[in-house]
Amino acid sequence: MNNYNQIKTIRYMGNKNKLLDFIIPEIKKITKKGEIICDLMSGTGAIAYALKDKYTVYTNDIQYYSYIINKAIIENNEITIDKNTAILDLEKSFLKNQTEKKYNFFEKNFTDTYFSGPQCCEIDSIRYAIDQIKNEYKKDLYLTALMFSMSKCESTSGHFAQYLPKDHKRLVELRKKSIWKEMLIKCDDFNSLVMRDFNNKSFNLDYKELFKRKDFKDVSCVYIDTPYTCEQYSRFYHVLETVTKYDNPKLEFKAKYRTDRFMSNFSLRTKVKQEFKDMLSFLSKENKKVVLSYSTKGLVPIDELEFIFSKTFNHYKLIEKDYKHSTQGKGSINISEVLFIAYN
Ligand SMILES: C[S@@+](CC[C@H](N)C(=O)[O-])C[C@H]1O[C@@H](n2cnc3c(N)ncnc32)[C@H](O)[C@@H]1O
Repeated sequence: MNNYNQIKTIRYMGNKNKLLDFIIPEIKKITKKGEIICDLMSGTGAIAYALKDKYTVYTNDIQYYSYIINKAIIENNEITIDKNTAILDLEKSFLKNQTEKKYNFFEKNFTDTYFSGPQCCEIDSIRYAIDQIKNEYKKDLYLTALMFSMSKCESTSGHFAQYLPKDHKRLVELRKKSIWKEMLIKCDDFNSLVMRDFNNKSFNLDYKELFKRKDFKDVSCVYIDTPYTCEQYSRFYHVLETVTKYDNPKLEFKAKYRTDRFMSNFSLRTKVKQEFKDMLSFLSKENKKVVLSYSTKGLVPIDELEFIFSKTFNHYKLIEKDYKHSTQGKGSINISEVLFIAYN
């Protein structure tokens, strides 16, 4: 149990839902009411959501699916949905597409990969129905519920880098699940979203582009949760990028990745250190307070990251928390989550 608001959206590598008790108090210690906090690489928006009841929060992430989730649960301070509104808003168009197949990208390209043919047809039809909705935040909420349902039904080990082989023991059970039914159930969770009278904003930019924006001048504290391994998020979650954009992308390899995947420097061994140096120097020069999460299993050793902080900020401290990280069926390993807190 933790003391902060949270909402489950998608299964996401590195999401901070289990670490809110460790991170949120540290952000609160260095900020005052009325200040704007930016969750610079917000993923599922777990940190921004836990802060949303007390602060104006901005979110940013390079991945479009993350932007949709964050618009739905962070920027949105007006609209809620539930199972009944979902049936009223979507069912007619959903059924229409099942026969007319106006949208069929998933059925054509992903049948018997991450989903069965009927599941792909459900995804296309829900997607078609969502596109008939006018209100943007409502659309974002339904897309988030669809992504949740897809994460629940996907024939994978937890992400979309590859799908399970045909003879895998879990396949029959996973393929029986209905994307539509799971999505409807999820909609009830968005009936009681945290809503406040703050002007929250969500962005979908490389963070360096956000740094150049006027909006960023107003931010006083930046929470940063970079990728810390070699795995690119754009490869692990390409299917979510495709379902939210629904832009008919070119696909490649057996795993059907989009060809236009973003490569983050934080996941490139040769670039990551310089990326940290440049990012932290900029934030220090702009006089921002910084809270940064990293792992003891990250590409950059903690002592090297600490050295970069010592060269860029007047004040910094580092705190550490051990936790057990499950390794899909092979038990668990101990790793530490590290938090740097820095300001001038
Ligand atoms: C560890 S995850 C963040 C998890 C998040 N705190 C949560 O609780 O769900 C790292 C995020 O950084 C994003 N990212 C990587 N490089 C980026 C860049 N250059 N600009 C913006 N976002 C980036 C990824 O898309 C990913 O969502």
